[in-house]
Amino acid sequence: MKTVAVLPGDGIGQEIIVQARRVLDKLALGLEFREAPVGGAAYDAAGDPLPAATLETAKKADAILFGAVGDPRYDSLPRAKRPEQAILGLRKELGLFANFRPAQVYPELAAASSLKADVVAGLDILIVRELTGDIYFGQPKGIREKGGPKGAEREGFDTMLYSESEIRRIARVAFEAARKRSKKVCSVDKANVLETSQLWREVVVEESKQFKDVELSHMYVDNCAMQLVKNPKQFDVIVTGNMFGDILSDEASMLTGSIGMLPSASLDEKGKGLYEPIHGTAPDIAGKGVANPLATILSAAMMLRYSLGDAAAADRVERAVKAVLREGYRTADLYTGGMKKVGTKEMGDAVVAAL
Ligand code: IPM
Ligand code: MG
Repeated sequence: MKTVAVLPGDGIGQEIIVQARRVLDKLALGLEFREAPVGGAAYDAAGDPLPAATLETAKKADAILFGAVGDPRYDSLPRAKRPEQAILGLRKELGLFANFRPAQVYPELAAASSLKADVVAGLDILIVRELTGDIYFGQPKGIREKGGPKGAEREGFDTMLYSESEIRRIARVAFEAARKRSKKVCSVDKANVLETSQLWREVVVEESKQFKDVELSHMYVDNCAMQLVKNPKQFDVIVTGNMFGDILSDEASMLTGSIGMLPSASLDEKGKGLYEPIHGTAPDIAGKGVANPLATILSAAMMLRYSLGDAAAADRVERAVKAVLREGYRTADLYTGGMKKVGTKEMGDAVVAAL
């Protein structure tokens, strides 16, 4: 029997995960679920955003379904106690270096995008974000006293750092993903300024020699940010580092109309993974029953496909989501008038019914 660690976290994480669980239950795949506290919820209960028992549950499971963590209530805590440390710790401890963030426009939702419908219609891009290196984890980092001509002051510093092997393995993941799609990889960096990026580019070029059937291009991150809103359909797979990927994936998500639609997968070397919606905890709407559960439901589908070896079940879930959109069900984030406006639970009901 396969086990799934279920980590709802904070804010709307609690509500959306319930709907994803209902969808998985409906499929009756004989999965065993182990729920554990994480993020602010775990800090409140145990004084630690990633308690040892939660980490253990995640390590033992075949896959992890994650909600979201964070809340402005914890903004004044020292960094090590903040809810975000839970997801950063899980990524690092479990070696989840490969983050897949697809951005697809459903034909029914093209009008919900802030860009013109013809710019985004049919969009299907995949951002492959490196997730356990870069300025997020590079040492040293900190805030220190610095003596200067005008007396002492503090300075903050972080280290952008990538080893050759880290670049190579994420490049390989991106090329392999492109092989199953339109066979194009755009590597995004800032090689005109940063040493880290220069090495990134060199290693990606070296690695591309193993993938002669995939077309490789390079783009500076600032230009990529612009191209994503100008002509997003030029891209197939974008591969980039942790920091640039964080920013570009939020941007790409909005092309689709709602960040509430986008799932993600974070995989280790063996294909074990953590699955989470791209969106956060949305404290402004938490507890109101209006959050869109589809990103989490689609994350569960990715989990079935990538970690649980059940592509057929994943297809069923994705088809069910398309069906409810076609039938006109819309949570508030997607609502543009004249359709069936529903809350979190009703959206879950609709997906379960479609299954
Ligand atoms: C994300 C989030 C996280 C990140 C935060 C919550 C630490 O923004 O998953 O994109 O920066 O990676
Ligand atoms: Mg982010």
